[in-house]
Formats: sequence, structure tokens, C-alpha cells
Amino acid sequence: MNYNISTIFFSPTGTTAKVVKTIAGSIGEIHNEYDLTPLKSRINYKALTFSSNDLVIVGVPVYKGRIPDFLADYFQNFKGNNATAVYAVVYGNRAYEDALLELKDIFETAGFVSVAAGAFIGEHSYSGGIATRRPDISDLKIACDFGQKINAKLNHFDTLSKSTLFVKGNFPYKALPPAPQIVPETNDNCTDCSICADLCPMEAIDFDNFRDIDPTTCILCCSCVKNCPEDAKVIVNEHIVNFTKKLISKLERIRHEPELFLENKD
Ligand SMILES: Cc1cc2nc3c(=O)[nH]c(=O)nc-3n(C[C@H](O)[C@H](O)[C@H](O)COP(=O)(O)O)c2cc1C
Repeated sequence: MNYNISTIFFSPTGTTAKVVKTIAGSIGEIHNEYDLTPLKSRINYKALTFSSNDLVIVGVPVYKGRIPDFLADYFQNFKGNNATAVYAVVYGNRAYEDALLELKDIFETAGFVSVAAGAFIGEHSYSGGIATRRPDISDLKIACDFGQKINAKLNHFDTLSKSTLFVKGNFPYKALPPAPQIVPETNDNCTDCSICADLCPMEAIDFDNFRDIDPTTCILCCSCVKNCPEDAKVIVNEHIVNFTKKLISKLERIRHEPELFLENKD
């Protein structure tokens, strides 16, 4: 069957986008790209509807062992109508916990049929010192091979079969702590270039004063920190700084590898 291939991703610092595009490109020609990172596109693409001719490759970053919480609500408006789906979560080399299972559950509830899933590693949003420059060549080769394995499975895939894809994770999912309402600070390097506000996925940065970030809207995704050409946006909050230091020392000699799920269980 010739599928109409679409990518769907949210990727404030770019690692999830790389993984999703690599998997999809290895499966076949990409017909539609739904980059849900800008708020405007999330409004435009609200309630996307697919059909059984569609194959979607969906990717999100892992936040606190879960999928970003506002996306859990957002995806519930999608309509799968038996479209086939591949899921990818990208995490900062600590752990992905229940994120992949949560993503699969949400899409299955919305009417998608799951064919494969993978957990990949990306440079940590909080620091270039964790999983530095990942996904790297080796990760992307695994993503590419994953696409080939998906193609092989699709050749004999029965969307009406009652068997379901196995992925790691637990239900009930890990409980989320309350949102910390911490925002990046702006130092004197700021040149008012507006890149941070242009790219903020939550539109939390005031266009009239780029130092003013709304703590109730900011999700601390670090898009502004990583995309600022002057390194003017920094996280100085003591709790996050200490947490990041501990992560760096704990993970510096640990390299997690991508985990792929293609097997169904009855
Ligand atoms: C708020 C927040 C929470 C995160 N939680 C986790 C986590 O639980 N486990 C982990 O390994 N990485 C965690 N990360 C790191 C991201 O999952 C990782 O850097 C990912 O590659 C970012 O994706 P992006 O480049 O598409 O934005 C977190 C990042 C942020 C911003």
C-alpha cells in the first residue's frame, strides 16, 4: 500500500524534528510536515483529520518523563480514522519513563493504529553538557534503519488485527509536579534582535520588552536560550542550575542508546 506520509512534531530546540524527519524520510517521500512548534501552527492545525491511507510519524520531547502536558490535551482533537502511526520521543539521556506509552495511548484513543515506536536521545534542553550534539550520526543511522524496519513491517501489516504494539512505560503515568513558573533571565548581551520572541513556542516573550517573559505561559523549553546568537538568555534559577549540575555529573559517562519497538502483543 502506498501511504501518504506526514510528519507531526513539537521541537523547541530542534532534536525531535531531526529524529522525526530522518525516520520519515527513510520510510518514503514526506507529503505533509506539521511542525507544531510555533503557537500559530498549533492553532492552524487544530483537529487534524487523517484516513486509512495516511501514515503519520509523530514526535515530541520528553518533559519530566511524560509528553509536554499541553500537547496531551491538544492531540485529543486529532482524528485518526484508522491512519497508521509511528511514535518517537526524544529525551535528554536521563530517562523517557512513561512518555512513549502516553503518546501511543493518546493517538490510539484518537483512532490511529500503531505500527512502531522509538525512544531517541537529544542534547538536553537545559545544557549542551548533557547528550552533547545528539542525535549524532550513530543515532540518525539508527533512525534511518528504523524507517527501513517500519517499511518491512508495513508490507504485511494488518490494521484490523486485534494485536497491539508493545512499548515500555507504566500506567498510571508518572505524576507531574506543579509547573515551577521559572523563566530564563536576560543578560546585557541582549541586542533586542527579537529571535527569542519570534521562536518562542508559547509566545511567552513580550515583543515590546524581550526581557519580560510570562511565567504562567513559559514551559522552560529553552528555545530562547539555545537560539539566542548572543547567549543573552540564561537559566539562573538555583534549583534548575543545581539539578542540571547533578545531571551532568551523573550522566557524563552514560550513553543511552535509542530503543525501538516493532513487536505486537496479543
Ligand atoms: C521541561 C523539560 C523537562 C525535561 N525532562 C526530561 C526528562 O524527564 N528526561 C530526559 O532525559 N530529558 C528531559 N528533558 C530534555 C529533553 O527531553 C531533550 O533535551 C529533548 O531532546 C528536547 O527536544 P527538542 O530539541 O525537540 O526541544 C527535559 C527538557 C525540558 C525542557
